[in-house]
Amino acid sequence: MNDLYEQAKNVLSNSYSKYSGFKVAAAIRLHDGTIITGVNVENASFGLTNCAERTALYTAYTKGYRKEDIKEMVITTEKDHLVSPCGACRQVMSELMTPDVPIHLVTNNGSVTTVSNKELLPLAFDESDL
Ligand code: THU
Repeated sequence: MNDLYEQAKNVLSNSYSKYSGFKVAAAIRLHDGTIITGVNVENASFGLTNCAERTALYTAYTKGYRKEDIKEMVITTEKDHLVSPCGACRQVMSELMTPDVPIHLVTNNGSVTTVSNKELLPLAFDESDL
């Protein structure tokens, strides 16, 4: 987990967060050892902002990886308190990663809280509801 956290920290400064000033980075480890990172990318039309978690996941899918390929995810910020994913990201994470994938929420001072993907979104809406 430490190396994954390091990779997330390395891209945190690339966060394009000129409106909120709130930098977020995510890093995904694939079962083949590949690590994919993402940051939040904001826009003057605020609603078009893409969160770090979705940036990383969409990049993984763009490269051809799918949910079964994902081993774990780290999410980190510059804050010393626990930050967990927004509701929109939880919905996307619920579909694009398997239920038991560990999500490590790491504070700036290195405190780690690990939850499973399914714990983040109980009673999720999914394709079976369509
Ligand atoms: N943000 C993320 O990147 N991930 C989250 O799960 C929470 C929010 C970003 C979106 C926006 O750029 C900034 O944090 C403030 O909301």
